[in-house]
Amino acid sequence: MEFIPRITRAQAMDVLSSQANLAGYRAVIEAAAHFARPFPMFMTAAGTVQAAKCFVLGAGVAGLQAIATARRLGAIVSATDVRKAAGEQVESLGAKFVFIDLKDGEGGGGYARALTQEEQAQQAALVSQHVKNQDIVITTALIPGRPAPRLITKAMVETMKPGSVIVDLAAEAGGNCEVTKADEIVRHGNVSILGFTDLASRVAVDASALYARNLLAFLTPL
Ligand code: NAI
Repeated sequence: MEFIPRITRAQAMDVLSSQANLAGYRAVIEAAAHFARPFPMFMTAAGTVQAAKCFVLGAGVAGLQAIATARRLGAIVSATDVRKAAGEQVESLGAKFVFIDLKDGEGGGGYARALTQEEQAQQAALVSQHVKNQDIVITTALIPGRPAPRLITKAMVETMKPGSVIVDLAAEAGGNCEVTKADEIVRHGNVSILGFTDLASRVAVDASALYARNLLAFLTPL
């Protein structure tokens, strides 16, 4: 199922999209559950509670759903991607697009290409500046046929605020964060890094229903 080309005609068969969408949603729910503070801003008689700041790396199917979910929960959301086209989609969801000035990072078929060493250094500088002010970081960056790009180093994790949460959706492909361990919750200092690889299974009823409909759409024309 994962090798079905992602052409318009095969959209209804696309299990990567149906499952990534749910995983992006669930990543934010997991982040909220492990974050000791609320997501929305509360203005009460006893004082103001600041909204959580959420940064999404990789604005593909999972990342865009993570942005939408975090926004609905009331977080202040920003996102980055190497594909320029993602910028408009990020902004249409009400998030801020943070972009390194590079030649478009799109490879073939809407996927990202691997960055050159110089571009990687540029991106690392931007990410390290941005990450230290965030409460929640959701990483979803993948490059087909390669290990996941390493975007958050251990040193960057150490600059984050106590209680911050990172959810690494690329854990199965080696992780976007240096300290991620697949299927584990790592506590590095006061930061929690969630490396769950079963996020879609954590919303199993709908994951199964959508998967079944993808299969039906594949078999019906046969
Ligand atoms: P993916 O799961 O392969 O990657 C996730 C995201 O990470 C991508 O947006 C990618 O650009 C980004 N990324 C890679 N390296 C990065 C880096 N160093 N820093 C920041 N971000 C990085 O992608 P996914 O979710 O499978 O979608 C890829 C594209 O395919 C999107 O443009 C999507 O809209 C398109 N698509 C088209 C479909 C169709 O039916 N025509 C169906 C599904 C997706």
